[in-house]
Amino acid sequence: MATLEPGLVISNEQLAADLFELELIAPQTALLCQPGQFLQIRIDVNHDPLLRRPISVYDVNQERGTISLLYKVVGRGTNLLTAVKAQEYLDIMGPLGKGFSLPDTAGRVVLVGGGVGIAPLLYLARRLQEMKCEVTVLYGAGSSKDLAAAQRFENLGVELLTATMDGSQGCKGLVTDLLRQQIKPEAIDRVYTCGPEIMMAAVADFAVHRKIWGECSLEENMACAVGACLGCARKLKSTDPGYVKVCKDGPVFSLHDIELYNGGLA
Ligand SMILES: Cc1cc2nc3c(=O)[nH]c(=O)nc-3n(C[C@H](O)[C@H](O)[C@H](O)COP(=O)(O)OP(=O)(O)OC[C@H]3O[C@@H](n4cnc5c(N)ncnc54)[C@H](O)[C@@H]3O)c2cc1C
Ligand code: FES
Repeated sequence: MATLEPGLVISNEQLAADLFELELIAPQTALLCQPGQFLQIRIDVNHDPLLRRPISVYDVNQERGTISLLYKVVGRGTNLLTAVKAQEYLDIMGPLGKGFSLPDTAGRVVLVGGGVGIAPLLYLARRLQEMKCEVTVLYGAGSSKDLAAAQRFENLGVELLTATMDGSQGCKGLVTDLLRQQIKPEAIDRVYTCGPEIMMAAVADFAVHRKIWGECSLEENMACAVGACLGCARKLKSTDPGYVKVCKDGPVFSLHDIELYNGGLA
């Protein structure tokens, strides 16, 4: 179920050159949010840009009725979003999509996030921790200043390991190197991932070969985000006869049901 609710912005803070965290009050929507779901945001009241923009639920506080979003400035819509000020209202629709599946019992779980793909993993980590799961977060970015969500995971008290391409924080290299070096496959029950598709393909490779349960969150350009326009349709596997709608059937899919773009590697 999704609602249309004006969200009262509490803050819209710049965390890094192109990363912002926005918090708003939207009690009806907050009550419905599940990890991995997203909001469709109308950026401008004058409908320019016309289409809403999808942004993942980063964190939720149901008691306060608040939702946090972590967003990267990439184009016109996200640029305009940076100008939204506290006490202004944002027109939000959500929560939308099928989020991450939570386990029935506590277990050992690894979350792998790359860049702003870390966003849907924070609320997931919170919910897994409430279920007494042992949570390890692997978080990769270009450099230390891009690891803008690290503090939020540290505040949660989950184990956090970082990787940066320039070596300015944590392990130097890819977050998937960290996965292969630091995680004993036999010691984990589940893996969840979000980030660049090529990164998620490496995580899928790790999980599928070792028969570890896993889910990933996909990104596709979206128009309606409610399953009506087919703008987000894609095949999960090249041999599939039909298409899924990422906005409605996803954005979360099993790592075992999908072929991800792996950069042409065999
Ligand atoms: C389910 C879902 C959840 C998302 N969650 C987040 C999030 O939590 N934080 C965040 O920063 N971003 C998130 N995104 C991506 C975000 O929606 C786009 O970056 C945003 O719509 C770009 O809008 P714009 O007007 O700034 O850019 P535009 O001017 O529309 O586009 C600028 C560039 O970004 C690319 N782009 C636009 N939309 C997408 C998209 N959906 N996926 C990939 N590339 C895109 C365009 O191809 C273009 O190259 C999510 C996308 C989806 C589908
Ligand atoms: S965005 Fe319209 S069907 Fe998915």
